[in-house]
Amino acid sequence: MTATAKGVAIRVHDLNYRYPDGTVALEHVSFEIMGGESVALVGPNGAGKSTLLLHLNGILHSIGSRGSIEILGEPIDPKKIHEMPKKIGIVFQDPDDMLFMPLLGDDVAFGPINLGIEREEVKRRVATSLERVGLAGYETRVSHHLSGGEKKRAAIATVLSMEPDIIAMDEPTANLDPKSRAELIDILKTLKSEGKTLLIITHDVNAIPELADRVIILHRTVVADGTAREVFSDTETLVAAGLEVPMIMQFFEVLKAFEYPCDVLPLSIESAVRNLTETAENGGGHIHLHIHEHTHSEVDSAFSRYHHHKRYHRHQIG
Ligand SMILES: Nc1ncnc2c1ncn2[C@@H]1O[C@H](COP(=O)(O)OP(=O)(O)OP(=O)(O)O)[C@@H](O)[C@H]1O
Ligand SMILES: [Mg+2]
Repeated sequence: MTATAKGVAIRVHDLNYRYPDGTVALEHVSFEIMGGESVALVGPNGAGKSTLLLHLNGILHSIGSRGSIEILGEPIDPKKIHEMPKKIGIVFQDPDDMLFMPLLGDDVAFGPINLGIEREEVKRRVATSLERVGLAGYETRVSHHLSGGEKKRAAIATVLSMEPDIIAMDEPTANLDPKSRAELIDILKTLKSEGKTLLIITHDVNAIPELADRVIILHRTVVADGTAREVFSDTETLVAAGLEVPMIMQFFEVLKAFEYPCDVLPLSIESAVRNLTETAENGGGHIHLHIHEHTHSEVDSAFSRYHHHKRYHRHQIG
């Protein structure tokens, strides 16, 4: 770990932001992210997540926000905004906002060239950044001809080439097919294992247990901040914020209604497999499920806790 990785990477204190048309996007937002931590930032549409991200590298900070932001221990200096991408790389929600040069190689080289890094080093960074996102040799491809999934990865490469300590991403897995989604999750896991500080905005709750040490729910202000388990256990707050819990956790809640013994609900497939294995081993190789007079009402109450509109009805599943 680097020296910076041990301190506070991002400190946001009492941040408030109102767009020029009067829309209040952020109110009294405060949180800290330590170096090397990986945090998922979740919240419903319009919650202020993208607005918050635009503050972290100073894009919105200088125009009409109140509160303070420190990145790697230093407040954002409006005179040094151009140096921010060295500390924190931001991958925007729409990759088209990040790919504006004719060729992908030029897009990935853009940041390092602006920093005055010499040619050979820029070339090396472009090649390694593209390789890391699975686009090795794509230097001469036309950026706007890339597919949606390739653009997502290309946008990440434009940030990696700056070699920042912190990477913040706005919905990296949105609109990806299952294979591309899995590949992207692998890229994020590798970055995490290298000690990068990650802030990942996502609606993809099923990816969170693998990716994030901590979950922050933003709903104009911070409404929850804790481990994935803590946050996903507080279904009332989640549902009030228009969010959902991982499918696998919901499924084990259903299994419990069939008397499956389980105190701690698994959040990922991997922990579900561990949990099932243990239960089978303790039961002499068997897992016993029972239907009893309260099973259906328990399933029903689990569904009404987790779901926004749907309710479980026995006749729907025959
Ligand atoms: N340029 C703008 N001018 C005025 N209002 C804006 C502007 N950009 C965003 N907003 C408003 O600010 C609020 C927060 O928007 P933001 O884009 O940060 O939400 P979000 O959490 O990223 O949502 P999503 O999940 O849909 O991406 C919304 O009410 C939005 O309509
Ligand atoms: Mg957004």
